[in-house]
Amino acid sequence: MSMKPLQVLVLICSTRPNALGPTVGTWLTKTLAPSAHALGVDLVPVALGDLNLPFLDEEEHPARGVYQHEHTRRWSETVAAADGFIVVTPEYNYGMPATLKNALDYLSAEWAWKPLGFVSYGNTSAGTRAVQHAKQVTSTLRLISLGSTVALRIADAQQHDSFQPADHHAQAAMGMLEELARLAHALAPVREHDRATPGPVPGSYAKRLHPDDAPHVTVLQRCCWVDEAIANDTLRLPALHETPAQVQQWLTDWHATGLWHTERLLGMVRTIRRASTLHIGRLAVAPDLRGQGLGRWLLHTAEARSQGCDRILLTTGTHSTHNLALYQQQGYIPLPAANDDGQVSLRKDLTS
Ligand SMILES: Cc1cc2nc3c(=O)[nH]c(=O)nc-3n(C[C@H](O)[C@H](O)[C@H](O)COP(=O)(O)O)c2cc1C
Repeated sequence: MSMKPLQVLVLICSTRPNALGPTVGTWLTKTLAPSAHALGVDLVPVALGDLNLPFLDEEEHPARGVYQHEHTRRWSETVAAADGFIVVTPEYNYGMPATLKNALDYLSAEWAWKPLGFVSYGNTSAGTRAVQHAKQVTSTLRLISLGSTVALRIADAQQHDSFQPADHHAQAAMGMLEELARLAHALAPVREHDRATPGPVPGSYAKRLHPDDAPHVTVLQRCCWVDEAIANDTLRLPALHETPAQVQQWLTDWHATGLWHTERLLGMVRTIRRASTLHIGRLAVAPDLRGQGLGRWLLHTAEARSQGCDRILLTTGTHSTHNLALYQQQGYIPLPAANDDGQVSLRKDLTS
């Protein structure tokens, strides 16, 4: 949903002294740097050895998300903030290293619905058995494995003292990152859906809008306020003119709720509390979805933020008949016009 860069953790699994893993990780991040920039991806190398995770020492099942130890809470925050992962793994005895299994086992929901790519290395099998082994575990955690992989045979990649995999491996790594970025965007609504409040139509969900959502909000409000402009015969409506930067500003100051379906913003509403009054504004529903109760649902969502207030105020155009009908039906009373700016304010008094 958001337009901020994707954060992709590059997990370096081996922890042995003089392990090859960090060298493979450095080759990978250097190789991917230009593609990562072009794709809007921040690659964040994480050496599992630096996490200082002992063998799993939490009492509760990770699915509960109740963590006693600081090392788990830190790891949880790191993984929760990520949009995807590339695991750089050796093959130990035909399987994944214990460090990776342990790091995976520590958490649960933090991994879910995020794309996962593998860069493996080893002898004849190029680490591919470690990847197959890991996939049994990662699919249980709802990590979504990519089809693309990079499998390096150590003997082929090592030239004298340097580690230089062939060009086709670099190409494969770039293809993998592209697939990962596409999947990370596609999976974002699935993750949001898990975390968010269900909306009024199947598959929809509500979540707080953040400044990063400004591009979506700008498009929705320009589109919705065209009807307002026609009904009220005026173009002097801020929602028609605001730039994404101005929208970003009010998304910082107001509490705004967005109603989403996959990556589409279907509707929104914003609220702000001033003294004991809750102000509701920018109630909008995409034109093709009107008449299905979405506006009423958004209004009720906004009203739920009125605890401690003694009244709610909102404003609409004098000729916005649909809005006026909805608000009056919901108990709002029009106030006498203070001036002839074409706007009417409506008030609802709240009883405790
Ligand atoms: C405990 C252990 C088990 C290994 N098992 C395998 C294996 O099953 N298949 C393989 O191709 N290489 C195996 N190797 C060789 C590794 O591929 C090679 O040592 C590689 O450098 C290990 O990665 P690291 O240096 O990042 O730890 C094993 C190495 C170790 C230390």
